[in-house]
Amino acid sequence: MRKKLVAGNWKMNGSLAENAALLAAIKPALAGIEAVVCVPFPYLAQAQASLAGSSIAWGAQNLSEQDKGAFTGEVSAAMLLDFGSKYVIVGHSERRSLYGESDALVASKYMVAQAAGLIPILCVGESLQERESGVTEAVVARQLDAVIDAAGVGSLANAVVAYEPVWAIGTGKTASPEQAQAVHAFIRGKIAALDSGVANHLVIQYGGSVKASNAAELMAQPDIDGGLIGGASLVAEEFVAICRAAAK
Ligand code: PGA
Repeated sequence: MRKKLVAGNWKMNGSLAENAALLAAIKPALAGIEAVVCVPFPYLAQAQASLAGSSIAWGAQNLSEQDKGAFTGEVSAAMLLDFGSKYVIVGHSERRSLYGESDALVASKYMVAQAAGLIPILCVGESLQERESGVTEAVVARQLDAVIDAAGVGSLANAVVAYEPVWAIGTGKTASPEQAQAVHAFIRGKIAALDSGVANHLVIQYGGSVKASNAAELMAQPDIDGGLIGGASLVAEEFVAICRAAAK
């Protein structure tokens, strides 16, 4: 059986004090359950100090495609590793839409992350307009192909894919379990056509308004292997309940 993995995406939220309380609450509650928190860069040291030795890994929400040098404001893969990061989100829809990250740039970041030994959580997903015009699968395929063409299908053995329909992110509109499962099955099938072993083991997370109250039915779908959780990852009881629902 594939493992299930839930990751929190804190986005640009938190403070030393708020994080301390959140981490202190989730750590004992998730003892023995593998989970991830992707925190803002300045709080990586805090996550490392708090979570080292626990079952919760940590990481970032973005990284530079460059190794080092004159790139003011950027953060490299090596810097994330310096703080014990295991995962990094790449291609989140907010990076794609608000910061103009192209499929090609996302593929570069994915490869740089892997080359450094980080596990990229590659986000894909369609906008509302794309769903309504019936191009969901075409959009998701294009986003996946950018990475597969650049890094090879085998690279997905060391990655996580997160399907996040843009219309469900932060909107309270969750994809129905059936809608999400359909796209997850499409993703796995597309990868299986290239490498069935990689496809069978690939963790495909669902993201978009996952809450404690809807986690169980989403996680029960055969191709949903966990979640990428935004808003609810900032509330200890919510995040713990989602992780437990996935671990069942
Ligand atoms: P949400 O965000 O859970 O707040 O919808 C998910 C994400 O953007 O990763």
